[in-house]
Amino acid sequence: MKILVTGSAGFIGFHVAKYLLERNDTVFGLDNFNPYYSVKLKQDRDAEPRKYSKYKSIIMDLCDSDKLRDLFVSEKFDKVCNIAAQAGVRYSLEHPHAYINSNIVGFLNILDRCRHNHISRLVYASSSAVIPNSPSRKRTESIIPEASMQPAKNQMS
Ligand SMILES: NC(=O)c1ccc[n+]([C@@H]2O[C@H](COP(=O)([O-])OP(=O)(O)OC[C@H]3O[C@@H](n4cnc5c(N)ncnc54)[C@H](O)[C@@H]3O)[C@@H](O)[C@H]2O)c1
Repeated sequence: MKILVTGSAGFIGFHVAKYLLERNDTVFGLDNFNPYYSVKLKQDRDAEPRKYSKYKSIIMDLCDSDKLRDLFVSEKFDKVCNIAAQAGVRYSLEHPHAYINSNIVGFLNILDRCRHNHISRLVYASSSAVIPNSPSRKRTESIIPEASMQPAKNQMS
């Protein structure tokens, strides 16, 4: 199976890529290595899956629709895991464009490429911001995250 994992230098994407490689899949890890946090940490993560012969690391931004189109055409992926995203809530107050670019435009580009290339399975990550804080509450997909979707009062001032 040939699988594209976006955000492969990130916390979750890195583990997803490694899991799939251990399963003997061929993995293309895509990341733009942006400086939201340590680029060195992302490079160190990326060095791990590169030890596998079935791994290919690609530096690319999901917003680059032309390069993404060419990648899908040339590689003919079976499945896609879109884990690349601009995470965090506080950062959005000062960097709103980063969220629109990666989470809206980038995700739309992935959806579009999957549609045009007849990708049978697309897995993507929801925002961690929708997970309620209370440890006592059971976490299910049907939870309506009323409180956790609101920025804290001090973040609005
Ligand atoms: N970490 C958690 O506990 C958690 C929990 C639930 C959901 N999530 C969600 O999972 C997703 C990934 O979270 P994470 O913790 O791995 O974040 P992360 O910041 O560690 O990883 C995201 C990766 O995506 C890359 N990236 C961002 N924008 C990109 C773009 N336009 N093009 C290419 N690469 C890009 C970044 O460089 C980074 O390496 C987010 O949507 C997050 O909200 C995370």
